[in-house]
Amino acid sequence: MDIKTYLSQKCLVVESALATYMLPEDGPLANHIKAMRYSLFAGGKRVRPILALATAEALHADTEALMPVACALECIHTYSLIHDDLPAMDNDDLRRGKPTNHVVFGEAEAILAGDGLLSFAFELLAHPDTGQAIAPTAQLQIIRAVAKAIGPIGMVGGQSLDLAAEGKKIPFAHLKLIHSYKTGALITAAVQSGALFGKATTDQYQALTRYGENIGLAFQIVDDLLDVEGSTEELGKTAGADVERNKATYPAFFGVDKTRIMAQDAIKDAIAALDGFDDKAEPLRALARYIYDRKK
Ligand code: IPE
Ligand code: IPE
Ligand code: MG
Ligand code: MG
Ligand code: MG
Repeated sequence: MDIKTYLSQKCLVVESALATYMLPEDGPLANHIKAMRYSLFAGGKRVRPILALATAEALHADTEALMPVACALECIHTYSLIHDDLPAMDNDDLRRGKPTNHVVFGEAEAILAGDGLLSFAFELLAHPDTGQAIAPTAQLQIIRAVAKAIGPIGMVGGQSLDLAAEGKKIPFAHLKLIHSYKTGALITAAVQSGALFGKATTDQYQALTRYGENIGLAFQIVDDLLDVEGSTEELGKTAGADVERNKATYPAFFGVDKTRIMAQDAIKDAIAALDGFDDKAEPLRALARYIYDRKK
């Protein structure tokens, strides 16, 4: 299958849904909403919403009513990027090819833009369009899975560990934990959202979770590689920033060649987890390969 075409088509659908859900930039809150929209519509690959949609498709589901959930995942991801770039965290001034949120709107508003996107995401997760398509218990399971993935034992916890590990010698198990938490957890939750929406059986849910965990880990390993091998222009964020900040990364631990093999292994495990699925899971398989092959 042609993953490039698949991604660009899905990207358009997600962008247009985001545009309809997102608040308009007027009235007394214009500046706050402008700050949220600035980062949300700055580009971005939209990998997490696309994964949720592709997972539901793999289960032969009609994905229209999943769109609020897909958009919520992108709002949460964008919030995480705004906060990740803050001076108190990674202190980056370029994101998605544009000056970072705090550079344009100031630190306080960047914090609030992130908070706004995170909170708005929960409104989307509880959207009545989704509630009409699936059982209330399934919608609650999606909300719970996402909330858990982005909290203390997930994305936010991972960010805390990532910052604490700067400049330190840590064991490999700890590095893997950081990557699985800070990046893997939300990606896994995106897949789980699609699985819950698509009424996966227990076996299917477990297989899809294994797929999600492996591509999630691989996603951050490749992000580490791109920081070393990519250019600022191509990435739309400053290359070499990890070395600069003494971050705990796979290339710093193992070198580039071994890191590539480790990412490949995770992708293989992800694809193997989909053995029981038919052709409708082809986009998921192609997405796994894309996560490894991507140049940004
Ligand atoms: C970057 O995420 C941050 C990580 C979790 C590694 P993406 O690579 O998905 O960034 P965008 O959304 O395409 O800008
Ligand atoms: C970011 O990891 C993870 C989250 C935002 C949760 P990085 O700090 O490696 O992401 P980039 O490289 O700045 O995009
Ligand atoms: Mg970071
Ligand atoms: Mg960063
Ligand atoms: Mg990075």
